Amino acid sequence: MDIEAQKRQAAARALDWVKPGMRLGLGTGSTAKHFVDLLAERVRGGLNVVGVPTSEATRAQAQSLNIPLTTLDETPALDLTIDGADEISPDLTLIKGGGGALLREKIVAAASAAMIVIADESKCVPVLGAFALPIEVMPFGLGATQRAIEAAAAAAGTSGPLTLRRDKNGHAFVTDGGHWILDAALGRITDPKSLARGLSAIPGVVEHGLFIGLAHAAILAGKTGVRVVERP
Ligand code: A5P
Repeated sequence: MDIEAQKRQAAARALDWVKPGMRLGLGTGSTAKHFVDLLAERVRGGLNVVGVPTSEATRAQAQSLNIPLTTLDETPALDLTIDGADEISPDLTLIKGGGGALLREKIVAAASAAMIVIADESKCVPVLGAFALPIEVMPFGLGATQRAIEAAAAAAGTSGPLTLRRDKNGHAFVTDGGHWILDAALGRITDPKSLARGLSAIPGVVEHGLFIGLAHAAILAGKTGVRVVERP
């Protein structure tokens, strides 16, 4: 089974957690896209749910498939968020933001009673950090913010180059919130909590892609099938 089929299989299994009447957070990325597709089939079949998209891309997809949508202003508490991840550690700490939607993804996950991650097995790592950590920053003061991020990384026992994410035209990639992203190639993040604390304390950092204590379970699809891992 190729990776795309594995992603779809993980997404399909997540439907088992979706119950009538639920208020759902709808994730962003290629795996979450499968979930939104499959959810739409259920909605067409009469399932009554309402969703909050975590990006403009997911909003457009969900709207085109006629999934009823709401906002966190109308519906501030959600039952369940289903989203992908870039890396998943054994305790279900995540790196997210490869698609640039980390800020809305984290707001939506934090507003949900539960978050389930869907992914193919390649996302599972013993130690986070091989995937560059996305850090959403204010364009104002970028140089100073970058310096502060380097200091926070060093204090958490890690280091590595920061790269400003660019779009296909070579311009700074702009998030749905109007911010920029620095991708921090740290290699090994041995103390994610300390790094998260350090990054959150920097005024120019809007949010970072470490999701700690948010995922309740991960549905992981591999060549030989699907397994569900719950947070220890
Ligand atoms: C989007 O900003 C990300 O957090 C995605 O959830 C993450 O990058 C996983 O995407 P894929 O499912 O495309 O790998």
